[in-house]
Amino acid sequence: MKPRERDGSARDLSQRARALEVSPTVAMAQRAAALRTAGHSVLDFSVGEPDQATPKHISQAATAALDAGRTRYTGAAGLPELRAAVAARHAKDFGVSFAPEEVAITIGGKQALYLAGQALLDRGDEVVIPSPHWPTFSEAVHLAGGKPILVRAQEKDGFKVTARMISKATGPRTKAVLINSPCNPTGAVVDPEDLLVIGDMAVRRKFTILYDDTYARLTFDGRHQSALGAVREAAGERLVILGTASKSYCMTGWRIGWVLGPRALVDACTALISHSTQSPATFAQVGAVEALTGPQKFVTDLRDEYQRRRDFVHPALAAIPGVTCVVPAGGFYAFPNVGRHLSPRWPDTLALGLDLLDETRVAVVPGEGFGAPGYLRVSFARPMEELEEGVRRIAGFLAGRRGD
Ligand SMILES: Cc1ncc(COP(=O)(O)O)c(C=O)c1O
Repeated sequence: MKPRERDGSARDLSQRARALEVSPTVAMAQRAAALRTAGHSVLDFSVGEPDQATPKHISQAATAALDAGRTRYTGAAGLPELRAAVAARHAKDFGVSFAPEEVAITIGGKQALYLAGQALLDRGDEVVIPSPHWPTFSEAVHLAGGKPILVRAQEKDGFKVTARMISKATGPRTKAVLINSPCNPTGAVVDPEDLLVIGDMAVRRKFTILYDDTYARLTFDGRHQSALGAVREAAGERLVILGTASKSYCMTGWRIGWVLGPRALVDACTALISHSTQSPATFAQVGAVEALTGPQKFVTDLRDEYQRRRDFVHPALAAIPGVTCVVPAGGFYAFPNVGRHLSPRWPDTLALGLDLLDETRVAVVPGEGFGAPGYLRVSFARPMEELEEGVRRIAGFLAGRRGD
């Protein structure tokens, strides 16, 4: 829903504000919250955050920072020790080398994306976005005056984004290509060979790769984002990484993210931060230093736990008659195709999703918001018992209503 549709006073809003779409994730979560307020218990698979608590040692570092009086502003680019920790973590985990001065700390990955858009794009600049895609990608491009060019990944190809697809979608106005691997919502991972070709292409065709690695530490079946170091070598300053502590460290509410990229871009982001938010909360930044420099076993345990859940959810959804589902290679979302269940009663997955919620108290996100009508995004960042019961309800709902 756009703000102008909500009430008459919206006529005074800027065109920019009026054009904004409210995320479908938020819309569904609001409906689920309303049901809960009315006393119903809802199995909520619309969520985009881990169900586990932030590890204790991270919270303790932040509390100690508060007790020690670390309650003042930090520099707009963030605490120097956090900038260094982000650079070191990326070097260690993904073999990419960035200097601390090439890192700015942001209020979550969302601000990192917003800032990169503001710093890079002029009106009419094109950004290639493989789709199905996280809706905030296209909104961040719109907010910066840019033009999203959606390029469709296909279910029959496992929703893989290939260098060929990107090559066909780029043109003289292409300023950036957005790569999100593993992808929200499909869970697809870009093959290292394709990533390298895209890196070379970025240099030859002079575009920036905006690489969103939000779910990079949550890849399954022994996959590793090892190509990133080679892409950095090939693409150099044309590689910009947008990241966050939110998912791998269970820190969604802490609001800590980062941009890694060339000095000019990082300095521009820092200037934008200095005139808007100043910095993320100081004690939250201290907690993030502990997350990145402390023990990492928690992260691998988290990944193993999500793989275990994926191993249940994927086959269970794919076994429902009339449903197909690509195996998620990372992240914590399954993206089943329920297109064969659409009918005059449920012309789209928004209608189907709302009925599913009202009738079975199971919340999922309709595919339309991800540019993928006919699909549902099912988060498996929920406890196993809830997933078992939820999938059972989804299967019963679709079985009971087929052919309506
Ligand atoms: C692909 C992707 N990028 C970035 C983010 C940003 O997360 P945050 O702002 O919590 O760091 C999200 C959150 O859902 C995401 O799915």
